[in-house]
Amino acid sequence: MTDREFLKMFSGLLAALVALTVVLFVLAQMVVGGSALKKTKTAAADKGVAERIKPVGEVTVGAQVMDSLIPAANAAGDKGKSTYDASCAACHTAGVAGAPKFGDKAAWKDRIAKGNDALYTNAIKGFQGKAGFMPAKGGNAALADADVKAAVDHMVKAAK
Ligand code: HEC
Repeated sequence: MTDREFLKMFSGLLAALVALTVVLFVLAQMVVGGSALKKTKTAAADKGVAERIKPVGEVTVGAQVMDSLIPAANAAGDKGKSTYDASCAACHTAGVAGAPKFGDKAAWKDRIAKGNDALYTNAIKGFQGKAGFMPAKGGNAALADADVKAAVDHMVKAAK
């Protein structure tokens, strides 16, 4: 085989390989393009289904909404817990501004010793103690006295 013949054959082979590459590339495009199209189609279909089966109405749970929803949702249940969650937890869960923490026996021991009536009065009327300021009804004037008392009971029970 002369160099010339070899070169001819070799370039023929190269041309064939290039052609094969192009064919494979086009084929791959067709396959991928096809499935990509299918994907968008299903996504669109899924969206349509989700749109049709979604529940009527959406609940946006902001702090305000929570405050009004929680007591309503629990109205038939535990008034003390629901009132606590809605109006007292903001300070008493983390112990904000010196508030005795929920369930903290040491912090509640001396307070519980004062008797329930003293605690009720201080929770309902508000009270400036050594640790900080407890606003009347936790700052929620709309609360019924009975609900505040129930919340106090809930807190006292957890700290005993
Ligand atoms: C803005 C924060 C805040 C909120 C909201 C709050 N408290 Fe308090 N609470 C305090 C602080 C501070 C004290 C501690 C005052 C002290 O002893 O110096 C306290 C103390 C108390 C005490 C003990 C009183 C005593 O005589 O030792 C009770 C009972 C109480 N809170 C009940 C409640 C109830 C019930 C609610 C919800 C209706 C509530 N708190 C909401 C801050 C808060």
